[in-house]
Amino acid sequence: MFFIGIDLGTSAVKLLLVDETGKIQNEVTKAYPLAFPRPGWAEQEPGDWWRACTEGLQALLRGFDAGLVAGIGCGGQMHGLVALDRNDKVIRPAILWNDGRTGEEVEYLNTVIGRERLSALTANIAFAGFTAPKLLWLRKHEPENFARIEKIMLPKDYINFMLTGVHCCDYSDASGMLLLDVQHRRWSREMLELCGVSEQQMPRLFESYEVVGTLKREVAASLGLPETVRVVAGAGDNAAAAVGTGVVGEGGCNLSLGTSGTLFISSKRFSVDPNNALHAFAHADGGYHLMGCMLSAASCNKWFCEEILRTEDYPREQAPITEEKLGRNRVFFLPYLMGERSPINDVNARGCFVGMSMDTTRADLTQAVLEGVAFAIRDSLEVARSLGLEIPRSKLCGGGAKSPLWRRIFANVLGIPLDMVKTEQGPGYGGAMLAMVGCGVFSSVQQAVDALVELASTTEPEPGLTALYEARYQTFKKLYPSLKAFFPELS
Ligand code: XUL
Repeated sequence: MFFIGIDLGTSAVKLLLVDETGKIQNEVTKAYPLAFPRPGWAEQEPGDWWRACTEGLQALLRGFDAGLVAGIGCGGQMHGLVALDRNDKVIRPAILWNDGRTGEEVEYLNTVIGRERLSALTANIAFAGFTAPKLLWLRKHEPENFARIEKIMLPKDYINFMLTGVHCCDYSDASGMLLLDVQHRRWSREMLELCGVSEQQMPRLFESYEVVGTLKREVAASLGLPETVRVVAGAGDNAAAAVGTGVVGEGGCNLSLGTSGTLFISSKRFSVDPNNALHAFAHADGGYHLMGCMLSAASCNKWFCEEILRTEDYPREQAPITEEKLGRNRVFFLPYLMGERSPINDVNARGCFVGMSMDTTRADLTQAVLEGVAFAIRDSLEVARSLGLEIPRSKLCGGGAKSPLWRRIFANVLGIPLDMVKTEQGPGYGGAMLAMVGCGVFSSVQQAVDALVELASTTEPEPGLTALYEARYQTFKKLYPSLKAFFPELS
């Protein structure tokens, strides 16, 4: 039997073909365009996602017996607003998780409706990337499009819809809409009303491992798959990645270094950060999690290398960052290239290099970028620690985790050991595991984790280096408050 895991990311979709022992038999990545129509805005065409998925699925199955595929599970970029009309046609490009156009709507929600009310209804406050502020934006700026909305969904739900014809969403992803009563796992009537939408316009809710349907006949035929293939609801990419690294149940932590950077703390019980700096969301295992999300993580390094230095040779850029340089860089980088979510919630924040002098080198800047991302994740870790949560170690996944240097910087900035798992494929592998649960190979997500997730390596913090980075972090912490008042002048 085969299972397909789909990771619907921001720059590409990654597909995995996994057998019932959990072994990855094949993988395919298909990229798609990402548009920044204005500074701080980010959009994608759902049609591009679907095209990449179908082409990717065909390539993935080439040379394999597609008749043996039993299930599909998708982990997808969260929060993106996908709106369909009465003919199930996409109304406008999806407004993505890292889009910062909704500053005014966020202000309205957090101050006029009020943070306390929002938190009581949804366990969260408004952040620019969340779906509810985007609905308010659409209602104000594109009333003709808003009036045409028949169904709202999130990015991976569009793929599930195209596969099965079912309008569905899972609780982990739905949590990030600011429309879900997260604790009770149901839509918040009051929030829907506030955003001018009805429950009929919302997708049906499922647990991530539940089967939403089987393949539509024409889809099965065009892909050469059996119509009996079961599609599970899947999860937001962070929850799916946490499943993939075995962070389920009580008290696990996963750090994902993708386009975004997230610190994900799993729990069996529902809880809320009293300051709402961390998101309180449902998990894909039936439980809950707290999460800090920075909007630009590995993407800062990609931007610096590819756009500024004009190279894709990342190891070569990192090679001059030698032992004696670690913890001693006098240049700092604030990684707010798309504004920032956790914990500062500031759409106007922007990226900065601070502290350059005539002897600053290219490598110092590269190092500052790697360190700035780690410092910003440390900000979320500090929030978690201030809530009394113990995080003695964390799993690490995502493209950025492939760099041994960056792993070492992270372990020392955070001061905890970081574990990598053997199948560090993040959301796609988690999606395949959810499909295995949906198809009955395992009776729970925990059981799938116990059977399939294996540790590969650990990066330990080093006491001397941790102390050096502690001092650098204390300086980093002062930079944003000093620059905060200046950022709105740039926008
Ligand atoms: C999480 C978030 C990002 C996206 C990235 O809240 O916005 O991690 O899910 O795909």
